Amino acid sequence: MSSLDSSYNGTNAAYTLHTMLWLTPIAIRNADKSLFPKTGLERCYSKKCRLGTTCRKSLHRNLYMGNGNSFGRCFRISTWGESHGAGVGVTIDGCPPQLPLTLEDIQKELDRRRPGQSRIVTPRKELDEAEILSGVIDGQTIGTPIAILVRNQDQRPQDYDTVAVKYRPSHADATYDAKYGIRAVAGGGRSSARETIGRVAAGAVAKKILATYCNMEILGYVQRVKDISTTNVDTNQVTLEQIEQNIVRCPDERVAQEMIELIDKTRRTGDSLGGVVECVVRNVPAGLGSPVFDKLEAELAKACMSLPASKGFEIGSGFSGTYMTGSEHNDEFYIDSDGRTRTRTNRSGGIQGGISNGENIVLRVAFKPTSTIGKVQHTVSRSGEEVELRGKGRHDPCVLPRAVPMVEAMVALVIVDQLMQQVAQSFLPFRKESIAFHTLGKELFH
Ligand SMILES: Cc1cc2nc3c(=O)[nH]c(=O)nc-3n(C[C@H](O)[C@H](O)[C@H](O)COP(=O)(O)O)c2cc1C
Repeated sequence: MSSLDSSYNGTNAAYTLHTMLWLTPIAIRNADKSLFPKTGLERCYSKKCRLGTTCRKSLHRNLYMGNGNSFGRCFRISTWGESHGAGVGVTIDGCPPQLPLTLEDIQKELDRRRPGQSRIVTPRKELDEAEILSGVIDGQTIGTPIAILVRNQDQRPQDYDTVAVKYRPSHADATYDAKYGIRAVAGGGRSSARETIGRVAAGAVAKKILATYCNMEILGYVQRVKDISTTNVDTNQVTLEQIEQNIVRCPDERVAQEMIELIDKTRRTGDSLGGVVECVVRNVPAGLGSPVFDKLEAELAKACMSLPASKGFEIGSGFSGTYMTGSEHNDEFYIDSDGRTRTRTNRSGGIQGGISNGENIVLRVAFKPTSTIGKVQHTVSRSGEEVELRGKGRHDPCVLPRAVPMVEAMVALVIVDQLMQQVAQSFLPFRKESIAFHTLGKELFH
């Protein structure tokens, strides 16, 4: 957490806040008026001013530093780039050395994410070809930061002329203006799903680590589009091939065709749809996650809810569990033929007390209908008038098919980070007699 995240509560914090404030750029000054229109407070921009000596202005205590582009602790990523800028990408810090890693490992995930892959996603023509700039030599990671770049190619900034002056309902135009007082209009800048290229590329590296060291597998699929859903997917058995066999990424072929038809029909009317991605992590060692604030499900929820257009998160039985009694809901324990403690059902979704219990982690993420639509809607202009807006440009009529690799990536990033934290905390020094070693260490270091 940055020093600016905390509220004004002491001289040191206040001094840091204030020093940072006069160093921060014009963007925040511009944001003042829209963020705090009724406070009547003015900020002192004099470089001579020092809080606690001459400055008595109290607006500082309400301000936050704009950040939020980095994620993870041990396996830390930072994404960068705007939709219509030169390119987008990611820097990964903390990747273990000597991991076999090829461009193909990354490209195959980016290909599942890229626009123009089918008639039910945005037709923007981007090949999204990744370049590894650093951190990998001769097909192996070398332990230094890995930088991955994808250059933007197919841009039509003129599609966003109207959006420059009229806010798209439920998009990020108005809030970015409120926060920064300036925004990259074309393509939505960093609010565009193009930002997730960096996450998916980093997720590919995370997946490689998890598969290499723990045989872990992460698979997402579309479970629901509007009111068309499948209940026929076995999370123990579902395969990548079944998921990738159709353009909507639903492994239930009959339901997939209904979803595709609905998206097609809705797209032709200029409207959009939402739905749910379900994701399963298999071969999860017991013991990942931390109690209290950093519970594993809390980390996963934050990761998934940071995806654009996400509106809900569930783990295991989720909200449906509230319709059951305790005796119906509890996952009873038993010992399996290998002597391992298992649960007969998995309503916990593989996590109890914030810590993985060795069962599959099963979660769901709700995505809203795409906000930019080809229908006329009421909105306001940047200059404060009520106006009408019909969205134009190339947009996803339903974000779900492309959201699948994004959910998988965010889940992979959390799990790899938790795995590295667990090793850092619990296996120094290696105490082979400890229970922690027996649950996780046995699988990692046998
Ligand atoms: C895979 C994917 C594709 C998306 N494509 C579009 C799009 O074409 N047009 C659009 O308006 N929003 C699209 N979005 C959603 C916006 O990026 C998002 O709604 C916007 O930044 C506002 O943020 P919020 O919905 O998280 O509040 C997409 C999201 C995802 C996950």
